[in-house]
Order: sequence, then structure tokens, then C-alpha cells
Amino acid sequence: MRGACASVIDFGWRRANLPAMDTSLSLTEREGLPEALRVLLQDYPRDGWQSHPNFQGLVSFWLDRHLMFRRLSAALLEDVEERMDGKLAQDVYVSRLGRFGNMLVQQLHGHHQIEDHHYFPVLVQRDTRLERGFEILDRDHHDLDGLLGRFTQQANAVLKGGEFGPFREEVLSFGKFLERHLSDEEDLIVPVILRDGPQSLE
Ligand SMILES: [Fe+2]
Ligand SMILES: [Fe+2]
Repeated sequence: MRGACASVIDFGWRRANLPAMDTSLSLTEREGLPEALRVLLQDYPRDGWQSHPNFQGLVSFWLDRHLMFRRLSAALLEDVEERMDGKLAQDVYVSRLGRFGNMLVQQLHGHHQIEDHHYFPVLVQRDTRLERGFEILDRDHHDLDGLLGRFTQQANAVLKGGEFGPFREEVLSFGKFLERHLSDEEDLIVPVILRDGPQSLE
């Protein structure tokens, strides 16, 4: 039966606490990367990424994953707003929230695991000027774990018949911080891979 017993699974992954950092650089506070960390972006501006010979393959695939997270986040917001406006039936909404919510939580967690254990440790050695940037991204992943946990709780509350309003607020703020992270991560990492080639990650 469509939508029955839907829930967003909380796998309970939580990371160890990290030492304190300048809070103005935290995911929920900053407006972008500090200028000193945008040095490579000046040589590899966004409007030239797609035409660069090293774009196809790894960079293109990785940006597509980011696009999928952005689309999932936007779909979750659109759905809850349509449900609140009565444009989406409850059973359809429950089914979509279960599917898209789980996809977002699980896929984003897996994506972070790969970045934490494979991409970041290699990339940080490619350009020591960007060390601080990788520290910021690592902390973002910690913060996003907490935000995903909160998202999961709120989604499950809605699936059990709770109010839509607080969940809509949660999805809105989650989407904002997710965009901050994805955008800063791209600005930091894509120039390094374009410059050194995807083989630099092997
Ligand atoms: Fe990330
Ligand atoms: Fe990422």
C-alpha cells in the first residue's frame, strides 16, 4: 500500500567532537569561504569549468551528485508546501517524503564518507594553502550530520501525523546550509582537480 509505514531511517551516525574553531567560519554562520581560500578559484573561475579538459569524468560526476542533493532538497520543500496548500494528497505526500527523505539522508551520508576518507586527505596534500578550507569542510560534515539528525526527527514526526509548518522551516534551513556547504566545497575542490587532473586523486 502506497505510503504505509513510511519513515526516514536514522542510522545514528554521529562523529566525535572536534576542537573549537572560529565560529564565524562555521556552516551556519559564514557567507562564503575566506578570500585567502579562494586563490585557485581566481585562476579557475566557475564559468570556465565545463570547457576545461579535466572537467569530464570525476568533476562532472561529482557535481552531478551535488545537483542531485540540491534537487532532493528543493523537492522536499516543494512537496511540503504543496501539501500545506492542499495540492498534494496525504498518501502521495507520505510516499514521496519517505522516498526522497531516505534518499537524501542515506546518499548524503555516503557521499560525505567518500569525501572524508578518500577525497579530502588526498586533496589537502595537493595544495597546502587550502588546508584551512578542508578543515572547514570537515566541520561542515559534522554539522550536517547534526542537521540530518534533526531533519530525520522532524520528517518522522510529520509522517506520524505531526504539523507541516515546523518541518517546512527545517527543510528550508537545511537547504540553505546544504547549499552553503556544496557551493564552498565546489569552489575549493574543483579548481584543484582541474589543475592537477583526476589522476591526482588515485
Ligand atoms: Fe561535502
Ligand atoms: Fe560533496
